Amino acid sequence: MCGIVGYVGKQNAVTIILEGLKRLEYRGYDSAGVCVQKGRKLDLLKKAGRVENLAKAAAQHRFTATTGIGHTRWATHGGVTDANAHPHVSSDGKFALIHNGVIENYAQIKAFLAGRGYTFKSETDTEVLCNLIAYHYAKEPVRAKSRQTRFVESVRKTLRHVEGTYGIAVLCVDFPGQIVGSRKASPLILGVGEHEYILASDASALVSRTQNVVYLKDGEIVHLTPESFSISTLDQADVSPVVDKIHWSVTAADMGKYAHFMEKEIFEQPAALENAMRGRFAADGSTAQFGGLNITPGEFRDLERFMFCACGTAWHACLVTEHLIERFARIPVEVDYASEFRYRNSPLDPRTLFFVMSQSGETIDTLAALREAKRKGYRVMAVNNVVGSSIAREADGGIYQHVGPEVGVASTKAFTSQLLIGAMIALYVARMRDMSFSDGVTYVNALKGVPELVRQALQQAPKIKAIARRYAQYHDMLFLGRLSLFPLALEGALKLKEISYIHAEGYPAAEMKHGPIALVSEKCPSVFFAPQGEIFNKIVSSMQEIKARKGPIIAITTEGAELPKGVADDVIHIPACHEAVLPIVAAIPVQLLSYYIAVERGCDVDKPRNLAKSVTVE
Ligand code: AGP
Ligand code: GLU
Repeated sequence: MCGIVGYVGKQNAVTIILEGLKRLEYRGYDSAGVCVQKGRKLDLLKKAGRVENLAKAAAQHRFTATTGIGHTRWATHGGVTDANAHPHVSSDGKFALIHNGVIENYAQIKAFLAGRGYTFKSETDTEVLCNLIAYHYAKEPVRAKSRQTRFVESVRKTLRHVEGTYGIAVLCVDFPGQIVGSRKASPLILGVGEHEYILASDASALVSRTQNVVYLKDGEIVHLTPESFSISTLDQADVSPVVDKIHWSVTAADMGKYAHFMEKEIFEQPAALENAMRGRFAADGSTAQFGGLNITPGEFRDLERFMFCACGTAWHACLVTEHLIERFARIPVEVDYASEFRYRNSPLDPRTLFFVMSQSGETIDTLAALREAKRKGYRVMAVNNVVGSSIAREADGGIYQHVGPEVGVASTKAFTSQLLIGAMIALYVARMRDMSFSDGVTYVNALKGVPELVRQALQQAPKIKAIARRYAQYHDMLFLGRLSLFPLALEGALKLKEISYIHAEGYPAAEMKHGPIALVSEKCPSVFFAPQGEIFNKIVSSMQEIKARKGPIIAITTEGAELPKGVADDVIHIPACHEAVLPIVAAIPVQLLSYYIAVERGCDVDKPRNLAKSVTVE
């Protein structure tokens, strides 16, 4: 994880870096630091805690420089201390470096360097990198011809000896006004502004200054000077840069009138879902269409299996998609955690289409699963929100979620848009198989109605807020649902635990009697998804079983469904709807419930402890 920002230009580097770090803070918030360069002098300030802490210290520090680097950390190696915060400076004082990732062979490198007189101030894996650069720099013969390239060559040599993942930005005292950056499996973007360059982990840190960006690829090294930039590979080949345009502005990454990004992102779901489906229905109104799949309808029709890989909330979205594809298109679907798939070496049928789902497009396990599937010769599609992300670029085709930046660590609008796209994939395949034209039209109309249904579900917010107050002090909670709402039970439990720190578990409701019911007492409430439908009575029976054991119950049910009196302590209604869109609508009350419970408990909703928005380390 970690957020990194580097600046070369004519403005005050610290102001720009701090603004960038604030926007990147969702990536990690254990500590933050900045190092600027003025002439041959490096000026370093780093602090455990939030970017705000660093900003306060920086205000006293009177930095003046137009080149610098900054970092917000999510610790992997070494505790959360000032010393372990980045930037790290080489023991000869010549290099300062920020890093996102993990250096797997750091112990060997550290031993090698320690034997040659280099010293270390931190427990991080990162610090070995800047010392190894210093080592190669000292070894590099200084010839007139190579003087200009000595900085970049030392970084290149260093990276050739490194195993693991990195996005880095480096300063060198002998090269004022210059930064060298590189990446391998951690994201790094170059913003090309007016007389300035900004290097950052993601676009949110630079979009206020420029919308022109170069997405760096793995194994590329970028060299910034005040006048220009150049890109080359670890093997010294020159790369012609492609400058892309970002199509969103800084206001999309602002909180507006809301108290938290999570709240904003929950309430903007009607518009977000509208965007996610825009232009994606066929002219006859009976099926979906996707522009970027790069696969012909014939090839699609011949598929015999789908495989979906993802992590966390996106994995829950895959489980719902599995249900819908199997239900409507009658094709077997397998879903795996990306982190398991990558090491499991699972046998795959030849006619399988592989999908990965990832909001950020940078989750390292999902990226690794994509690469593993490609290595095995499979075509890989990506459902992804961040345009130009690593996953988007490495996939053979895909579907963008188009919901704008999601900043809150707890995924909300990205989740519902993944559910929507999953439902559209199910429709697309179903219409190639057995779904009739009129069933297709009904399905399409249901999808088109989603923004309005979500708007109606959001109107329950005041009621859910009042319920949340009554449940905020419990220590354990169960989320129970069946069929396509079983993954929603998992998602509800994940949402609650990650932002409120209440222990929560999600189960298929009928599984309760096979063990988890032992947890039930007046101290452990259950949230039940109980929509009207084929198995409504079965779900009600499960509720009775909980009630018989004094478990408090919150029921989420569809309007018009009749729950027996007294079976639930609190009832939240969602509009009745087509089963393909039910999971989307059902997501709203659990998002709101977790959000209000976390607020009631005084938790830091957008930046929950120990977490970060995109997990770019294994
Ligand atoms: C969601 O609330 C989580 N914070 C987390 O599970 C997230 O969904 C997961 O890390 C996957 O992220 P991605 O979609 O960016 O790949
Ligand atoms: N490994 C580095 C550290 O612990 C960077 C961590 C990261 O990218 O999350 O400081």
